[in-house]
Amino acid sequence: MTDMTVPDTGTGYGRKPSSHDARLTEVGPGTPMGEALRRHWQPIASSTALTSDVPHRVRLLGENLIVFRDGQGRPGVVFERCAHRGSSLFYGRVEEDGIRCCYHGWKFDVQGHCLDQACELDGGKRRNLARQPWYPVEEAYGLVFVYMGPPEIKPPLPRYDSLEPLGEGESYHTSWMVPGAEVIGLEQDYNWLQLFENAVDPVHAAWLHSNHSGFQFQGTGTTGFPEHYYDHRTAAERTTYHRTDNGVKYVWRYQDTKGDGGAPVDLEWSVECMLPNIIALPDFIRSTPDVRNDMLIWVVPADDTHHRLVFSIRSADPERATSFMFGIKQNGKDGWQLSDEEKQRFPGDYEAQRSQGPITQHSEETLAPSDKGVVMLRRMLRTMLDDVEAGRTPLGVATPGEPVRHVEAGLVTRPEAPTGTDRAAAPTAAGA
Ligand code: FES
Ligand SMILES: [Fe+2]
Repeated sequence: MTDMTVPDTGTGYGRKPSSHDARLTEVGPGTPMGEALRRHWQPIASSTALTSDVPHRVRLLGENLIVFRDGQGRPGVVFERCAHRGSSLFYGRVEEDGIRCCYHGWKFDVQGHCLDQACELDGGKRRNLARQPWYPVEEAYGLVFVYMGPPEIKPPLPRYDSLEPLGEGESYHTSWMVPGAEVIGLEQDYNWLQLFENAVDPVHAAWLHSNHSGFQFQGTGTTGFPEHYYDHRTAAERTTYHRTDNGVKYVWRYQDTKGDGGAPVDLEWSVECMLPNIIALPDFIRSTPDVRNDMLIWVVPADDTHHRLVFSIRSADPERATSFMFGIKQNGKDGWQLSDEEKQRFPGDYEAQRSQGPITQHSEETLAPSDKGVVMLRRMLRTMLDDVEAGRTPLGVATPGEPVRHVEAGLVTRPEAPTGTDRAAAPTAAGA
């Protein structure tokens, strides 16, 4: 029976309204994170999927943009609203030297110069005065990158040793085999930071992707992780978190056998989050030890409550990209094939992250030791914001001539620990 003499504690009554951390999550022009993200090149399209056919509508950092490739093969990014009277260039026509608006036929090149005003005498005597707002682009790693920041401090594109040099027979795979996502990436309807933080939250794999919903990674128990990899009772003691040159990584230790019936080997799996929004994720389906990492994922904010996942994989294996795109199953199915009740019984990343809200309510969180990676990442992002506000160059922005960056994600065979040491506590090969 309820004791009526002692008031209940911890009830929901009278709680203050909840709130999100606007500095970390909001990305529009003029916001702290929006300005910081605008110091970095952001991928906006797959180079291979972007043809000179129709233009594509892309929302990026709260701005409505159009990405297209003109008939000469040059990629361009311009504002969606036509500089004349505002019709959408989504309905424009791609031509040899630019994009032409459907309404009165004004044509703009990839830098927004107005080349023609179809309905004006002589193509518009004052057309030089019209300019469609545009952003600079560069192509690398099979992607089109755009720079939306202050033109006077436009940095070079950073380079990563995950993606270069290409090995024999290798090419870049960058296009999602999902309707609507082939060119501009896979859009999801919640704040970008919820997904980015997930990459330094390894213990969720020991619960969500294995215990709670059954084994969801397709390689489990075969070519990928052994099932004991996911043991949630030992996950905390097997995991460490480290600062890297460009962000944060976790290292997750486990044991496997080398080949059929071979001797046990100790392995370290690590994922790195590089500032401001890049995840280096090794192949989680065919987890092959001691090979160079081959993939980066950008978590590109579309606006405060949407993001897109854009990736580049360097591989000679056509199956590599497919296994990444469709390698996590829920009850043996892809997410969109599940009924609402199946999603309840077999939730995956989307259910866990989207249900945090369009933007999670940071004021309601209760962080624990296994959130260490999340805490480290947020701290680094806050430092990035402080740097931008103080006029300093934030971490992650490339400088001219800098060397190719070393990406620390991977699966490595752990060297033998000296006799008598505690293996779980021994320093990692690559840990900082
Ligand atoms: S609105 Fe685009 S040409 Fe008139
Ligand atoms: Fe996950």
